[in-house]
Amino acid sequence: MSELSTMILDRIRDIPDYPKPGVMFKDITPLLADPVAMAAVVDELAGLRQVDKIVGIEARGFILAAPVAYRAGAGFVPVRKKGKLPAETLEESYDLEYGSATIEVHRDAFAPGDRVLIVDDVLATGGTAKAAVELVERAGGDVVGIAVLMELAFLKGRERLPGVELHSLVIV
Ligand code: PRP
Repeated sequence: MSELSTMILDRIRDIPDYPKPGVMFKDITPLLADPVAMAAVVDELAGLRQVDKIVGIEARGFILAAPVAYRAGAGFVPVRKKGKLPAETLEESYDLEYGSATIEVHRDAFAPGDRVLIVDDVLATGGTAKAAVELVERAGGDVVGIAVLMELAFLKGRERLPGVELHSLVIV
C-alpha cells in the first residue's frame, strides 16, 4: 500500500449507525484537519488529468474540489442539491435507498468541449457520480474522469460508471 493510501486510511474514521442504524459512516474530518495529509491529497487529485474545470459535488465534494481546482489552475463548478443554484439550471434525479435525490448544475457552467474532472469524497452506490456525469455532459462539458478519495467497493458503484475513468485514492 502506498504512503498516501496509508495516510488517508489512518485519517478516515468509521462511525457506526450514522446517519441511521446499520450504516457505517466514513468520517473524513480527521483528514481535513491534518494540513500535511490534506495537501498530499489535493496535490494527488490535481495531478491526475489536465482539465479546464473541476466539478465538486455538494457538500463534502466541495471541500476537496475547490482546492484541487486552485492547485490545478482550473475553474471550479459546483453541482448542488436542487434549489440552491440561482441561475438557469439543468437537473438530474437518481434513486436513493429510500426515495430519490435531484442535483443541478448551471446551464452555462461550461464552455463547449471543456475538459472536466468530477471530484467527490466517497463513491458508494455510484448514483451521485453517474448523475453528475450526465449533468456535465448535458451542459456541454467533456468528462475526462471522476476522482474520489475513497471507493466503497462492496457497493459496486464502479459498475454504474462504464466507460468513465475512475480514480480512487483508496478502495475499501
Ligand atoms: C455522499 C458523498 C457522495 C455520495 C456518494 O454525499 O459525499 O456525494 O454520498 O453516495 P452514492 O455513491 O451512493 O451516490 P451525501 O449525499 O451524503 O451529501 P453530503 O456530502 O452533503 O453529506
